[in-house]
Amino acid sequence: MAKTYQIAVVPGDGTGPEVVAEGIKVLDAVSQRCGFALDYTHYPFGGEHYQKTGEILPAGSYAALAAADAVYLGAIGHPDVKPGILEKGILLDLRFHFDQYINLRPVKLYEGVDTPLKDKGPADIDFVVVRENTEGLYAGAGGCLKRGTPDEVAVQESINTRKGVERCIRFAFDYCRQRDRAKRLTLCGKTNVLTYAFNLWERTFQEVAAEYPDIETDYAHVDAICMWMVKNPEWFDVIVTDNMFGDIITDLGAMIQGGMGIAAGGNINPEGLSMFEPIGGSAPKYTGQGIINPIAAISAAQLMLETLGEPAAAGFVENAVMQVLRDDLKGIAAGKMGYSTSEVGDLVVAKVNAA
Ligand code: IPM
Ligand code: MN
Repeated sequence: MAKTYQIAVVPGDGTGPEVVAEGIKVLDAVSQRCGFALDYTHYPFGGEHYQKTGEILPAGSYAALAAADAVYLGAIGHPDVKPGILEKGILLDLRFHFDQYINLRPVKLYEGVDTPLKDKGPADIDFVVVRENTEGLYAGAGGCLKRGTPDEVAVQESINTRKGVERCIRFAFDYCRQRDRAKRLTLCGKTNVLTYAFNLWERTFQEVAAEYPDIETDYAHVDAICMWMVKNPEWFDVIVTDNMFGDIITDLGAMIQGGMGIAAGGNINPEGLSMFEPIGGSAPKYTGQGIINPIAAISAAQLMLETLGEPAAAGFVENAVMQVLRDDLKGIAAGKMGYSTSEVGDLVVAKVNAA
């Protein structure tokens, strides 16, 4: 019997369902080709379900998702729901509940894709950001006093635990070793100002580094890394950083790799349930028009296959995406591809079948 993976699908809001449908098309083609099967269960979490029912995550959701091998997510965020409710109540909640302590974000410029960086090409932009995904400023620690008065005080604390920092750094070293490129791991922090949090990061980084003599280590402050990502992106192989800095630098990374239309990420619990998503959001203004770029969602599916332990299938998907970007698409942005959303999915499927 062929191996069957159980995939929990959360199409979510806005253009999420449109891009997830293309990802599933590609997953079906590649799984057939590689001799395994995927069984999908759809969950309605998102803005519409919330407005209809008042439920953010329905009772029983955790148990249902826990039975899956991976979660495939479209986008969360609805223009008629106050910002934060769905993001915190679904996306961050699932990351935290399933202890998906790694947010893995490849920044790779493919041939045929324009980068806003002058004189830089695919040989220069190919690195991976390992973002801590369960702690830092995202932990929700803090509070406020005298809200709405002139004396209001708001405190939001960054939580950094030795265990949380160490497991993230260890993952980054392992990932860098297994990626087997320049074998250089850069810690991105702010040791000159955030002297408690990044002192812990720095000490842990140095201690763990002693176990990886084959990996070259480097350090850059977060502000400087923004500068270098633009000026000399070819310096980077793998970057490891905390939750907030990782959030910020990966949007910059998405732009230099060609835009949100192709940026994908994985929320990974190496010992548990992981969740894969295009990082571009729900793009409400493009919803239902069939013009959104599904490549980010297809690349998220590729990351999912890698994590599930199907590297050959992941390779087929990446090669197909590379060909479509190089040979077919006229642009990356919504409405500028020269093809509709589903035509782009069909092109990728055709390359998978032809490979
Ligand atoms: C991301 C997003 C989320 C984050 C938001 C939607 C909460 O920006 O995945 O990067 O900040 O992590
Ligand atoms: Mn973000």
